Amino acid sequence: MSTGLSILVMFCTTVVLLGCYLLLRYCLKNNTEVKEGESMGHSFDGIEEINNPLPKWWSVMFVITIIYSVGYLVLFPGFGNFAGVLNWSSSNQAITSIAESEAAAAAAKAEGTTLMVQYDREVAQADAAFGPIFSAFATRPVTELATDSEALEIGQRLFLQNCALCHGSDARGSKGFPNLADTDWLYGGTPEIIKASLMHGRNGMMPPKGGLPIDDAEVPALVEYVRSLSGMPFDRALAPEGLAAYQKGCFACHGMNGEGNQALGAPRLNDKTWLYGNRRSDITESILYGRAGQMPKWDTVLGEDKVHLLTAYVYSLSLGKDAPVVETVEQVQARPAAPGAAASSNEPDFAELAKLPMTEMHQDAAATEAGKGLFAANCAVCHGQDAKGMGNFPNLTDNEWIYGGSVADIKETLMKGRNGELGNMPAWETMLGEDKVEVLSGYVYGLSQ
Ligand code: HEC
Ligand code: HEC
Ligand code: HEC
Repeated sequence: MSTGLSILVMFCTTVVLLGCYLLLRYCLKNNTEVKEGESMGHSFDGIEEINNPLPKWWSVMFVITIIYSVGYLVLFPGFGNFAGVLNWSSSNQAITSIAESEAAAAAAKAEGTTLMVQYDREVAQADAAFGPIFSAFATRPVTELATDSEALEIGQRLFLQNCALCHGSDARGSKGFPNLADTDWLYGGTPEIIKASLMHGRNGMMPPKGGLPIDDAEVPALVEYVRSLSGMPFDRALAPEGLAAYQKGCFACHGMNGEGNQALGAPRLNDKTWLYGNRRSDITESILYGRAGQMPKWDTVLGEDKVHLLTAYVYSLSLGKDAPVVETVEQVQARPAAPGAAASSNEPDFAELAKLPMTEMHQDAAATEAGKGLFAANCAVCHGQDAKGMGNFPNLTDNEWIYGGSVADIKETLMKGRNGELGNMPAWETMLGEDKVEVLSGYVYGLSQ
């Protein structure tokens, strides 16, 4: 508030308070010629006006109110810019989120003021009172807490306060929000993985059409193929076409047979659990527009001790439940290639090419061609057609390596996969076989030479 406005506020406040006091004093005096308790001489329909003084209790209340307001203005902010001798501040007025509150508290601390944001103060009080309880539990393993009724009771309360909003009070989820009470996990159900889901949050990322060169016209066939994977009724004429589209790269995340990939949070497609629904319209929407489920991170909001208890609670929900049943379903076969179409028999002889030293493959035209084909079919989904990467997926052409750029390092990366800061790089050993991995390693090595 500007000084001018502050002075005006102080002036008005003083006038009002003084005015109230003077008015009371005036009213307490007998300003008439009539003695107290006697008639004023007015009478209406037999009702007489008596000159009675103000009731005692009322005037005392009035005085107390005035004293209270003066006291309040001395102690608390209210009298213009005067902060009050207690230096109290309700600086959470403009604050609407926890992040803003934390920022305000940090700013106040940096300024060295005694100001404490209300949220901060409440958290500090609660931490002082309950912190020791939480930290006592935090030293015990999740598997043990998951059978401790006291720990579970606290865990459940934390769940109802923080998680039920999305996952439901019974933790069984709803469309887009996974069921936490079954044994079917997007990311995995071990205590470590559940805790990681809670601490750091999760962002499932399915790009529209998987980011693959798939035509909108191919989507209905894909939907039929996806339905076939989980044993639902499907259109037999369309499904083989869907399989061909699926093999353009859906498998990179969802697995060859739709078994999913927990490191990526790519759901199983060959079971009966659907995050976004199994109707044709739901699946079409999932494929056409992609999906991006967001689970907030809780490390800074709740702190590790509470997350530990929550982990135990979530873990306990599926304890002793059977693993999801995955029925073996009849596999849709790819349609035989139309007569005249290029037969797959001119596929390169990978075993032969793999005999070349990996460091020299990029100088060999046939090996480069073969590597390029493998890359386009398996790797371009994530690393881009030109291998320059996109989003979180690293550039493979810049000679900057997370895991080392020797052919041995690259082969190791491809064979076993990697799961680091940027996300999950699938293991290709079983999907492609060692010969193809070697040809690919030579190809990738060549990209930055
Ligand atoms: C704003 C909504 C929201 C809130 C609040 C929320 N979650 Fe989630 N949670 C999600 C979504 C969405 C996913 C799925 C993420 C994905 O699709 O990648 C998820 C995923 C998870 C997973 C991984 C499940 C799996 O199958 O691997 C766990 C565990 C989990 N949440 C537990 C919790 C707990 C415990 C809390 C409370 C501290 C919580 N969530 C609060 C939305 C929420
Ligand atoms: C880059 C990895 C990636 C690729 C490629 C990919 N998906 Fe996904 N897909 C995901 C992830 C991750 C989710 C879960 C999204 C979430 O949690 O919000 C998902 C979700 C889905 C779902 C919803 C599943 C459910 O339980 O409701 C369907 C259906 C699906 N994908 C089909 C496909 C098809 C078909 C393709 C090929 C065109 C494909 N996906 C390509 C990662 C991928
Ligand atoms: C589902 C997405 C995905 C697919 C498909 C994929 N990658 Fe990756 N790749 C990644 C991610 C994410 C990383 C980073 C992993 C990390 O941070 O630990 C990575 C890392 C790598 C690295 C290590 C880079 C470095 O700097 O050390 C190489 C090499 C690589 N990928 C090659 C390939 C090849 C070759 C293929 C095809 C066979 C392939 N990737 C397919 C996602 C993918």
